[in-house]
Amino acid sequence: MQPDGPVLGIETSCDETASALLAADGQVLAEAVLSQQDHAPYGGVVPEIAARAHLDHLPRLVADVLARGGASPAALGAVAATAGPGLIGGLLVGSGFAKGLALAHGLPFVAVNHLEAHALTVRLPGLVPGGVDFPYLLLLVSGGHCQCVSVEGVGRHLRLGGTIDDAAGEAFDKAAKLLGLGWPGGPALERLAAAGDPHRHPLPRPLLGRPGCDFSFSGLKTAVAHLLAREPAARPADVAAAFQAAVAAVMADRADHAMRMFAATHAARTLVVAGGVAANAALRAALAGAAARHGFTLHAPPLRLCGDNAVMVAWCGIERLRRGLTDPLDHAPRPRWPLESLAA
Ligand code: KG4
Ligand code: ZN
Repeated sequence: MQPDGPVLGIETSCDETASALLAADGQVLAEAVLSQQDHAPYGGVVPEIAARAHLDHLPRLVADVLARGGASPAALGAVAATAGPGLIGGLLVGSGFAKGLALAHGLPFVAVNHLEAHALTVRLPGLVPGGVDFPYLLLLVSGGHCQCVSVEGVGRHLRLGGTIDDAAGEAFDKAAKLLGLGWPGGPALERLAAAGDPHRHPLPRPLLGRPGCDFSFSGLKTAVAHLLAREPAARPADVAAAFQAAVAAVMADRADHAMRMFAATHAARTLVVAGGVAANAALRAALAGAAARHGFTLHAPPLRLCGDNAVMVAWCGIERLRRGLTDPLDHAPRPRWPLESLAA
């Protein structure tokens, strides 16, 4: 079932307030992302501040996207909002706003799982020539999540492995904090690493070569802390480059194992990397090398769609609407909502 008009997407699960309007065929009509700056003094997202900022910004953002996209609320085909996983205050603001619009205008509502929105982003029409068909192997690397998933279809995801401690983005943010780079640290650390020598201070490669495709990053962060304590004169750029090289090497190794696991049960040879950390060029290069060794093709969203955004939420809504999947207005947002549970 094709949505009966453009689909409005709303994202408020963490510290990005975002809205987007997509035509029923997936064409992006308008998009807006506001990255909240209110958290920088605290060195991390403060949930109550995030929720209040969503409340302040979302109505204006949605009105702006609808105006630029040329649609009135009554002309929408559906409203899709992230309903988890994430910070409950923000989820309540975004999904509550979406439900209000749906109720007022008699529109279908789609409760989007944030992880599935990242997972399906590469299928947005126009991104990859010829499109990306199911099934594919997904490496989901963000601030809160780090997992290898076999994406079998909409609502059908099998977890092959994941982090046993920190997420990849969390590791970047913690290492950046140790280097005094402020927050969020991933992009700043990548910029600093460009001027550094990755070989000057060798860092450990947690779980390298271990069976399966689990990850561990907390030891790497500790190694950075020890290195900085031991060698206070170390050039921050060299430390950043060493850290980034260690993460990229571990990711490539874990992807290596995941591709072997995936290939044992699937004929498809597609690797997708998504989530905020997928914006990292060193990581993309390491994964491209690993994919080539296994005869896989690597796809990644464009940079603007790696981090949190509402285009992916609206697109996930369209994918679900096309399969007749909508949600009741009493759907409860979920702070925890594993991908694997969607099938049930
Ligand atoms: O997907 P995302 O926007 O939010 C979550 O769902 O968590 O991911 C944000 C994470 C942050 O930890 C940020 O530091 C990291 O992605 N990140 C990066 C880069 N850009 C964002 N990490 C490494 N290199 C980057 N260029
Ligand atoms: Zn995300």
